[in-house]
Amino acid sequence: MILLRTKKELESFLSLTKNNDEIGLVPTMGALHEGHLSLVSKALSHNQKVIVSIFVNPTQFNNQDDLIKYPKTLEADIELLTQISSELAIFSPTVEEIYADGVKTKSYQFDGLDKVMEGEFRDDHFNGVGTIVEMLLRLTKPTRAYFGEKDFQQLQIIKKMVKLQQLPVTIIGCPIVREPNGLAMSSRNERLTKSMRNEASFIYKTLQTAKLKFGTKSAPKVIEWVQEKFDKHDSLKLEYIEITDVETLTPIQRKQKNVKYRAFVAVYADDVRLIDNIALN
Ligand code: PAF
Repeated sequence: MILLRTKKELESFLSLTKNNDEIGLVPTMGALHEGHLSLVSKALSHNQKVIVSIFVNPTQFNNQDDLIKYPKTLEADIELLTQISSELAIFSPTVEEIYADGVKTKSYQFDGLDKVMEGEFRDDHFNGVGTIVEMLLRLTKPTRAYFGEKDFQQLQIIKKMVKLQQLPVTIIGCPIVREPNGLAMSSRNERLTKSMRNEASFIYKTLQTAKLKFGTKSAPKVIEWVQEKFDKHDSLKLEYIEITDVETLTPIQRKQKNVKYRAFVAVYADDVRLIDNIALN
């Protein structure tokens, strides 16, 4: 395992790779769990070299408290990654190293992909994600970069940014990894009490039934059903449920043939905000 703390160290690592080595990048903010590890395993199976970046990016937090509370567990993360492979390079720079000219967010034209769902509730979040992912891609120059489908909107936005900036990289989306009770793996799950972690399995169960209902019922009816289910739940508070076209992320008007749809939710479990989604067809 190689730990790279600066852009210079990263550059010298890259200069030692062979010309035809394919490089996989797995960008993370640390606090690694099995979801991240599945991305790393996929990257290892596709590429000769794999870089995992660990960087808690300040420009994507619209809430300073959330940034302060975000778990920082570099030693444990290194330990986990070393168990997967001794061949990995970990790029873990400081904020000053990355944002050498000051912590600034770039603005992108995401064609509305950033205005719905997470974008509606987290001002400028996706410009922050675009800013850091563009920087990481320019620095590490990977052949492929890997992102989880739990953050499906983020995945579509990153694909858009790569197209806009004409970056020579293939973006690979990877399926959501779930806890045995169905809860989507997330670094935030660590902040849930044991009983809330059990309660939160309700989110995926509800999405699964919504998927079944989508086979025979209209989207507004499915949405109404999900809202009612959460209204009746004692401890989980639904922030939104949307059913959208997977490409444009525009909310569904009427079901159309040959269009793929997903249902997306954001839910508060106490003060922990969880997101999840499911492919509907
Ligand atoms: O999904 C994340 O952990 C982050 O948004 C990412 C892609 C690493 C950018 O900071």
